Amino acid sequence: MNITVIYGTESGNSELIADDLGAKLRESGDDVTVFDLQDFDPADMTADTLYLVVCSTHGDGELPNTALPFAERFDATPPDLTGVRYAMFGLGDSFYETYSQGSEHLDRRFAERGAERIGEYGRHDASSWDLPSDVALDWLPGVLEAAGLTRTA
Ligand SMILES: Cc1cc2nc3c(=O)[nH]c(=O)nc-3n(C[C@H](O)[C@H](O)[C@H](O)COP(=O)(O)O)c2cc1C
Repeated sequence: MNITVIYGTESGNSELIADDLGAKLRESGDDVTVFDLQDFDPADMTADTLYLVVCSTHGDGELPNTALPFAERFDATPPDLTGVRYAMFGLGDSFYETYSQGSEHLDRRFAERGAERIGEYGRHDASSWDLPSDVALDWLPGVLEAAGLTRTA
């Protein structure tokens, strides 16, 4: 199955996670592409691809800079996402009352247009001692299992 990892970031953490997820998936032989959301068109989302979405939170619970053009295109021309499956990994800092809400702006949009979220909603808390990619790589197997993509390693 095709897998596309899309990330929205402001200071680079989400990009690092997306690259590490892409590298892990390639090790297993998956056909995987990684895009910054600012370079990705919502109209290109299709049901034959699994989307792993990695997105941080900035401002006061808002989307990070590179996710903003994507959200604007999405709202201008809402795509039909019937049959599209995606998994969500949000970044934030529990210091903020708006913890991890950036990714939820995308999650809400996808759900409203008929896409199905699979697996657990992954989160990384910058106030924790956990390394972002470690948390994301621990989250990945559950998502692949939910997608019916079992792995031996
Ligand atoms: C100026 C600023 C504002 C932030 N606002 C929030 C916020 O409202 N809610 C939250 O959960 N995290 C917030 N964060 C934390 C970031 O989401 C967190 O550091 C994340 O790992 C950044 O990922 P990125 O490098 O991919 O943008 C903020 C960070 C900065 C620097």
